[in-house]
Amino acid sequence: MDKILITGATGNVGLSAVRFLMSQKDRDYEVVAAVRDIDSAKNLEGMAEARLVKFEFDEPATYAPALKGVNRLLLIRPNQVSDVSKHIFPFLNQVEKSGVKHIVFVSIVGAERNRVFANHRIEAHLKKMKIPSTIVRPSLYMQNLITLHGLEIRNSDHIYIPAGSGMVNYIDARDVARVVSELLTKPGHEAKEYEITGQEPMDFYRIASMFSKELGREIKYSHPNTIKFIRQKLLEKKGYPFIVTLSLLYGAARNGKMAHTSSVFKELTGSEPRKLEDFIHENKKFWEK
Ligand SMILES: NC(=O)c1ccc[n+]([C@@H]2O[C@H](COP(=O)([O-])OP(=O)(O)OC[C@H]3O[C@@H](n4cnc5c(N)ncnc54)[C@H](OP(=O)(O)O)[C@@H]3O)[C@@H](O)[C@H]2O)c1
Repeated sequence: MDKILITGATGNVGLSAVRFLMSQKDRDYEVVAAVRDIDSAKNLEGMAEARLVKFEFDEPATYAPALKGVNRLLLIRPNQVSDVSKHIFPFLNQVEKSGVKHIVFVSIVGAERNRVFANHRIEAHLKKMKIPSTIVRPSLYMQNLITLHGLEIRNSDHIYIPAGSGMVNYIDARDVARVVSELLTKPGHEAKEYEITGQEPMDFYRIASMFSKELGREIKYSHPNTIKFIRQKLLEKKGYPFIVTLSLLYGAARNGKMAHTSSVFKELTGSEPRKLEDFIHENKKFWEK
């Protein structure tokens, strides 16, 4: 029986992957959720049936016990872990000594082109490893509209993003989880790379109007320039690598490089990815005053 280890298992994609994999009735695999805090993770919905193992990228002593008996790995790099030489490559060295025969890595749209991205370096490292891997490059997650921009929308009635009139094609992290679950459990995806997006690109003026309609109050799109955005995020004490990554992503959107629509989700799952307006409707309580 396959044993699948999931890093970042309490996060956007990791938790949804645990839930999706555990919800499959005829499953012939075991799911191991690699978490920093077992006690708090085991209370999360969907974790009850999964096996939980203590794991931290910055604690090498946790690597070997987490990898015991594992033959498939879903690798998710936490945003906080930006020094990949120090915290991801040593883990991958341990993976090479384990029984893992396939790695699925959640990278990010554009990482193949941009050397500044931590995920770019991980992609390059994976390609040099003997174990076959599959690289998934999702577009931006809808969940960012809660985790990164949610408080601005709720408290200041604006979306504060330096993307000008450029477009993005948001994907729900649950759909990313659905795709990676497919790649981990069905044959034929080794040494492949997939870009996944939502159904439709749109600019932030349209996204702001979707919010206004759903929330019944006006949500404006403020589009600061990149310098102003960086200053604001530094004031909010956000980490430098994170600010740089966000600025590059929104800069790419401003320059028309994030407007692409991929058909990979439909090809792999047979259904359409979730729509942004449905995500806003489902989560509207978060942005209500
Ligand atoms: N956000 C986007 O729009 C987007 C789009 C495409 C790709 N991505 C990529 O997605 C990845 C992030 O995935 P996500 O959004 O699913 O994660 P997330 O929601 O940010 O959650 C991070 C996860 O990593 C865990 N974690 C944090 N520090 C850790 C450490 N030192 N050792 C082990 N685990 C640790 C957290 O556990 P705790 O519960 O213990 O904190 C949590 O499970 C990044 O590589 C990013 O580039 C993001």
